[in-house]
Amino acid sequence: MKILITGGCGFIGSNLIRHLLTSSSHTVINVDKLTYAGNPNSLADVAEDHRYTLCHVDIADLEAMRGVFAQHGPDAVMHLAAESHVDRSIDGPAAFIQTNVVGTFHLLTAAVDYYRGLASQRAASFRFLHVSTDEVYGTLGATGEFSESTPYDPHSPYSATKAASDHLARAWKTTYDLPVIVTNCSNNFGPYQFPEKLLPLMIIKALGEQSLPVYGKGENIRDWLYVLDHARALCRVLENGRVGQTYNIGGDSQRRNIDLVRSLCSILDELNPRRDGRYEQLIKFVPDRPGHDFRYAIDSTKIRSELGWRPQFDLETSLRQTVHWYLTHRDWWQSILDGNYQLQRLGQV
Ligand code: NAD
Ligand code: DAU
Repeated sequence: MKILITGGCGFIGSNLIRHLLTSSSHTVINVDKLTYAGNPNSLADVAEDHRYTLCHVDIADLEAMRGVFAQHGPDAVMHLAAESHVDRSIDGPAAFIQTNVVGTFHLLTAAVDYYRGLASQRAASFRFLHVSTDEVYGTLGATGEFSESTPYDPHSPYSATKAASDHLARAWKTTYDLPVIVTNCSNNFGPYQFPEKLLPLMIIKALGEQSLPVYGKGENIRDWLYVLDHARALCRVLENGRVGQTYNIGGDSQRRNIDLVRSLCSILDELNPRRDGRYEQLIKFVPDRPGHDFRYAIDSTKIRSELGWRPQFDLETSLRQTVHWYLTHRDWWQSILDGNYQLQRLGQV
């Protein structure tokens, strides 16, 4: 199968592409605009694989996207490209509206035109997998979980634009018969995550002896999922998911932010002891994120019972592996801190 993946130079996309190329015979066309979050270094180990092609294209460029479909003739689309960071969406929502809403609209338009031109046998197996987030469901109190039928109630500019893109994708199924499937996933962590997100930010700041900024009192709760488990889930949905359905994907690993950061500090104490004291002493409570959702938790009964997927990696083991990865891949994140990756990613060095 030839799979067109958008946003493949980002965190989840790069892990997904590596997983696909190493565990299947699929071919991958990676469409990425190479924003600040897109880093081809994250796929340096597979860049020469003859089954992998990178197209430096903006999904919001309709003509360019039509060209990609015409040139490569994919059997499926996995749409991950997005502006993904909540704090950035608060400071500058325009880019989120442009990529997550307008970009998804143009991608869907190009996909429908292409799909309608397919011979009936290929059209029957074509899929458009739209990858989204649990943040579209809003926030939870002390109890309960998000299911596929939880009403949408997004709170941040990021989640509002992801909600809009989910509605567009579903409308393109209902109105134009594009074979869309939607997934909504909880917080991912693992290798190659951009150091603006909680876990890599904390690891890298700790290694630099900087303070670790925990928002508010650190009592907000997230449901953590190792990125490889997400990649496995996306492949399972693409292969066996039902057209027109939504699948929630979660790690069944809820933690308060402060507890997660403390666990991370203990792992660092073990793997890379400080000269003076323990890493926990670097924790600093800072003013809260505006509109900060209190708790996310996913009920993943549907994907478990229908598609037989469940997370394989437990939180403590994969957290340790992740810390170890950042300790042993300093070049990857140091080039981001230095800004050099921006030149490398645009082919200027
Ligand atoms: P990321 O920010 O690490 O990567 C996004 C990628 O999209 C980058 O490579 C970037 O260059 C590319 N991109 C951005 N705008 C583009 C455009 N206009 N055209 C083409 N490419 C563009 O994001 P991520 O954390 O890997 O998330 C991937 C997807 O999964 C997103 O849709 C996100 O909403 C969703 N998601 C993420 C998480 C998470 O915890 N990270 C959880 C649930 C869902
Ligand atoms: O739930 C899925 C979502 O998870 C994805 O859709 C988003 O793309 C992804 O960025 C992530 O969103 P969050 O806002 O939950 O992730 P972030 O890493 O920014 O923050 C995780 C929690 O940690 C959140 O409660 C805010 C808190 N936090 C974050 C940062 C960056 C801090 O306390 N300090 C920080 O410096």
